[in-house]
Amino acid sequence: MKRVDVVVIGAGAAGLFCAAQAGQRGARVLLIDHADKIAEKIRISGGGRCNFTNRDATPANFHSRNPHFCRSALARYTSQDFIALVQRHRIAFHEKHRGQLFCDDSSQQIIDLLMRECEDGNVERWQPCAVRALRAREGAGERAPRYEIDTDRGPVEARSVVIATGGLPVPKIGATDFGLRIAKQFGHPLVEPRPALVPLVFDAAEWAPFVALAGVSLEVEISSGSGKQRARFVEDLLFTHRGLSGPAVLQASSYWQPGETLQIAFAPGTDWCQTLSRAKATSRRQLGNELATHLPQRLAQAWLARGGLPEDKPMPEVADKPLRQLAESLSAWRIAPAGTEGWKKAEVMAGGVDTREIDSKTMESRRAPGLHFIGEVVDVTGWLGGYNFQWAWASGYACAEAL
Ligand code: FDA
Repeated sequence: MKRVDVVVIGAGAAGLFCAAQAGQRGARVLLIDHADKIAEKIRISGGGRCNFTNRDATPANFHSRNPHFCRSALARYTSQDFIALVQRHRIAFHEKHRGQLFCDDSSQQIIDLLMRECEDGNVERWQPCAVRALRAREGAGERAPRYEIDTDRGPVEARSVVIATGGLPVPKIGATDFGLRIAKQFGHPLVEPRPALVPLVFDAAEWAPFVALAGVSLEVEISSGSGKQRARFVEDLLFTHRGLSGPAVLQASSYWQPGETLQIAFAPGTDWCQTLSRAKATSRRQLGNELATHLPQRLAQAWLARGGLPEDKPMPEVADKPLRQLAESLSAWRIAPAGTEGWKKAEVMAGGVDTREIDSKTMESRRAPGLHFIGEVVDVTGWLGGYNFQWAWASGYACAEAL
């Protein structure tokens, strides 16, 4: 039986960072992952350049059944802390959009950073290595249980176990429900997992008028969700053959529940009623040409066809009522997705291990002392833009401090 202080299961973003931090604090750490390759999600992230954090990350950029849960960890390990680490490793990076920081060269640099940090912490890594079972063993006179882990490479005993096996997206690179199963085994409630940051799809018949728009992209204001879970984003939207994608829709998808309607305003900030009635009074353009001064031409054409409005009608001749209806549809397009593109295309999992039974300062289970959950497996989901990695670093750090 191999004996260590801590076993971290899952050598992705959260697991590597937590293992390194715990090792550097003096714990004997064994890191186990079943995949052949290390940290595949980091490698494919950010289009190969890893959007490793967001300069402006705050708890408001995350959603969870308990929105306060992430506060403590995010405050104790901030994006500035991770930026300082990236700088110490002399990795060049740039800001792309709204605080999103990417490597100049390759996401492999972040993997190399994490590996070097693990070396500094003398972290031992077993990979590929499958974990078959995890048991808590109560010892006579001991305050906390010890954990026995059956693996492909033999049994291991540890006083603490960290579950860092991530979420369900992209099963072909090693995602599993291991963390969710362990949570259930130890009596943890789950928040129903669902694909998030994912393109949305529509019924084929409903989508038929928009299929020809595949590839059209434009800025919109999009609202999604209901009640406290309602969110609004101003970002780019992309029409696809099956539905909608682009940053606006990925963000909105995290708040969308089946059966709900999305609301989309084209050219955010435009008062369409005022803009079109002013154009009617002052412009001699045809309706199609007028609309195309505000929207991509293909979209303008499809929108008029959908509303049964003739493109070639001169603006002064368009009747008030259809013009008002057109303005309303451009300010508030209401559309009900049939579903999402699913786990294959999702960037993250929303839901996961319910935070009510986890200590927000240590990520430790309240049901099983010594058992911790970090990263995406926990019901904390970030927006698009580097926030999910920031949660991986912050939750990994909070946990490591307590090990
Ligand atoms: P992660 O998925 O990183 O690691 C989990 C590890 O556990 C894996 O190594 C896996 O092999 C292992 N594992 C799973 N089951 C196991 C088992 N049964 N036994 C042993 N090991 C097991 N976020 C962001 O902030 N910026 C970005 O640019 C992107 N880009 C991006 C692109 C794409 C295509 C995807 C799919 C996702 C992103 N993300 C992102 C999200 C980000 O990758 C994700 O939130 C973090 O990697 C989560 O870190 P974790 O360590 O929790 O899981």
